[in-house]
Amino acid sequence: MNSSKAVINVNFDEPINRFGTNSNKWDEMAAITGVADPDGIAMWVADMDFSAADVLQEATTGLLDKANYGYFTGEGDMKDAVAWWMRERHGWAADPQAMFSTFGLGNGIGLCLQSYTEPGDEVIIFTPVYHEFIGKIRRAGRIVRESPLRIGNGVYHMDLDALEASLSGREKVVIFCSPHNPAGRVWAPEELHALAAFCACHDLLLMSDEIHHDLVFPGHTHVPFPIAAPDVIDRLIMLTSASKTFNIAGSRLGCVTIPDERLRQRFAATMRALDIKPNLLGVVLTQAAYSPRGAAWVDALVRYLDGNRQIFVDGISGIPGLTAMPMQSTYLGWVDFANTGMEMEEVIRRVKTDARIAPSIGADFGSGGETFLRFNLGTQRAQVTKAMERLQAAFGDLQ
Ligand SMILES: Cc1ncc(COP(=O)(O)O)c(C=O)c1O
Repeated sequence: MNSSKAVINVNFDEPINRFGTNSNKWDEMAAITGVADPDGIAMWVADMDFSAADVLQEATTGLLDKANYGYFTGEGDMKDAVAWWMRERHGWAADPQAMFSTFGLGNGIGLCLQSYTEPGDEVIIFTPVYHEFIGKIRRAGRIVRESPLRIGNGVYHMDLDALEASLSGREKVVIFCSPHNPAGRVWAPEELHALAAFCACHDLLLMSDEIHHDLVFPGHTHVPFPIAAPDVIDRLIMLTSASKTFNIAGSRLGCVTIPDERLRQRFAATMRALDIKPNLLGVVLTQAAYSPRGAAWVDALVRYLDGNRQIFVDGISGIPGLTAMPMQSTYLGWVDFANTGMEMEEVIRRVKTDARIAPSIGADFGSGGETFLRFNLGTQRAQVTKAMERLQAAFGDLQ
């Protein structure tokens, strides 16, 4: 990853009160997770408790100053900015002509399912994985085919032999998460090659969701799928977005890049049928984000998150029975409670009621997630430290 030389002004330690801002993570915490204490810590929904980068604020102010929210045609500049970012930060020469902007990346995934599969088709995912893959596949009337990840040397690995042995012949698509949510695994090029070869062998379309690709910690390198396996470019759909990296999920803009012309036409037809046209705020923010100043902000962010990760990993490893998977990327900590010997009901009660922390529930991420909870560390360091102290107290009897 290239580092940016731009100078920025940022203080990730500054406390932000997100209650009362229509924040999904904070304002719905009580109703959805049951953590109602005013001093509860929201560590579930995957956004961050940081203010937007200055470069984004300036772009928004510029938009407001123009006071013109009519139909617009500025999407081309945004696609050029996306291409610049992919080239500069990831070494991937993405073609702006092959890009579509959707209402968030979740919408992009749904549009792909509509474009390339029929009701009853099977869609392969490697579980545990971002829970919404399962939701979107099911809501589209398609069938989820889970391929459980195996743990080796403490991290997840795909088991393509087991998957091959279980194929029904009705599988059409793989949705792959790279880097991996919830465990933060950064896949090695050999693993990507193997998956590419598998897809080619079984005539599967490969959707590579790389939304977490910018938040990778030192010592690990994310390899975009088109770089790892250029030979499968004709069956590859790239899913990216500035939403996780820059904490702008509310602006709803995903980027679907489809190198193959024939696949692109099918997707374009779905976009036309559903009248998906670019969203002004999302375009303005994404374009501003993918810039040298945006890059400098992300470099500072990753350094800060790395510090949070260290506190988290140290804190969890100090509690007997809890195991945090090594975080290679993302601000999401994935913790196994299996060795506590407790029922998950009791684990969740202690985390929510005693520690007053709202995590994401591992079982929602599919097979293999049952004994896990996911903790969002995209917050002020003081909050992470407080969360660790509370977890240590809640599981103090294991000491
Ligand atoms: C792997 C992955 N894909 C897609 C999304 C959704 O992105 P968006 O908010 O742009 O719809 C998320 C959000 O957590 C995610 O983790």
